[in-house]
Amino acid sequence: MSTRIVILAAGQGKRMYSDLPKVLHPLAGKPLLEHVIHTALTLAPAVQPLVIYGHEGEQVQKALGHWNVKWIAQKQQLGTGHALQQALPHLADDEQVLVLYGDVPLISHETLKKFIQETPAEALGLMTAYLPDPTGYGRILRDEDKNLRAIIEERDADDYLRGIKEVNTGIYYVSASHLKKWLPLLSKHNAQGEYYLTDIIPMALAENINICTIQPSCIEEILGVNDRQQLNTLERYYQENLALKLMRQGVTLYDPKRLDVRGELLVGRDVIIDVNVVMEGRVEIGDYCVIGPHVYLRNAQIGKAVEIRAHSMIDGADIADGCVVGPFARLRPGTVLAPQAHIGNFVEIKNSFIGEASKASHLTYIGDAEVGKRVNIGAGTITCNYDGVNKNKTIIGDGASVGAGTQLVAPVTVGVGAYIGAGSTITKDAPAQQLTLARSKQLTLEGWRSPKQKKEKEQV
Ligand code: UD1
Ligand code: CA
Repeated sequence: MSTRIVILAAGQGKRMYSDLPKVLHPLAGKPLLEHVIHTALTLAPAVQPLVIYGHEGEQVQKALGHWNVKWIAQKQQLGTGHALQQALPHLADDEQVLVLYGDVPLISHETLKKFIQETPAEALGLMTAYLPDPTGYGRILRDEDKNLRAIIEERDADDYLRGIKEVNTGIYYVSASHLKKWLPLLSKHNAQGEYYLTDIIPMALAENINICTIQPSCIEEILGVNDRQQLNTLERYYQENLALKLMRQGVTLYDPKRLDVRGELLVGRDVIIDVNVVMEGRVEIGDYCVIGPHVYLRNAQIGKAVEIRAHSMIDGADIADGCVVGPFARLRPGTVLAPQAHIGNFVEIKNSFIGEASKASHLTYIGDAEVGKRVNIGAGTITCNYDGVNKNKTIIGDGASVGAGTQLVAPVTVGVGAYIGAGSTITKDAPAQQLTLARSKQLTLEGWRSPKQKKEKEQV
């Protein structure tokens, strides 16, 4: 029997007080709904999940349109039961349906797999959880024999019911044929005037259908995001969990509470990560690297034994083995550093290749350049790559030495082994192995007096 996953994601998320639809709010850098879609696709890759969307639906589809899911509109948001009704025409009678929520992002593959396996055929599977603070959730009402009788929404509950700590996670596993029978019978006689999906419980009981409940392996998996505080609770849980995983894998973290990974991180052995490091997108860090404090890494590939020193910002760069970068360096997209390159403080590099063992140690801008091996770029060197229209290229040959305070006006080539005198403005190609200077000659004016000296002379 195949399992069809339906993700309810049409709600507005009033309690977020936001122009962004709730399910697009990021958790660990990814929209809430994307976490759920990803889990759904790993669980049942062969069957396209159905996503019920509604509020600001265009935005949601635009952000997540590349995922292989079927989008089904719920034009008016009349409740969770009404949302699932929209899926009915797309369900085959012999399918089993797993209902997930776009605002319950951390439900795990393992828990759902167990849920599916342990729910007997013909039963209604319901995932419940015991929460120390059940505020906001539907409460699970059981009789003396512990049999489930109903789910009561908080707004419909009295004080006794509100004291119940077992809650509805909203995650169900049930046959499509049952849903096709029950969902059209829902009514909206409740405090919120909505079609509640929870009302299928009494319908199942009336038919003597076995209601089978299971619990997740940890409660964070089923926590919903209804406001920004709950979003933060899940963000911190996610980050701490990831930090623990990294440490178990052999990464030293100076403070697991001060690392944020908002994307995918692949990390080697014996890596040390100092405090307040933020990573986004896909980041790869090779063995023996040391990432200093306050470093930002985004879409970066870092080889082995690289040292990224404090306060550096690395975005879209490829850094080979043994490089040293920073402190206070900025590598922008298209930067490629060959092995053993050294990039020092207040150096910005964009769309450039820096050859093996080359150095730019202080206060430099390198844009659209190709720098050979063992080149030394003096402090304050600037490639003038932009003429207002075109980005022009600077080529610096192997072993060249560019003096401090040089401007290289591109397009321009500095030959192999060339020397450029400090303070030069180089507008024409500089030949290999020669010293090229382009600056005015030093003068000392005879008889020159400073205004102060002149004034003193007048007074005499
Ligand atoms: C719901 C459950 C509650 C449970 C909780 C778990 C009902 C009536 N209540 O409450 O028992 O404890 O989830 O998190 O089922 N949605 C739609 N269309 C709608 C309304 C909602 O797609 O018309 C989607 C929302 O986008 C959201 C999910 O359904 O992803 C849950 O809706 P929400 O309004 O957050 O329900 P809760 O009050 O949290
Ligand atoms: Ca919710």
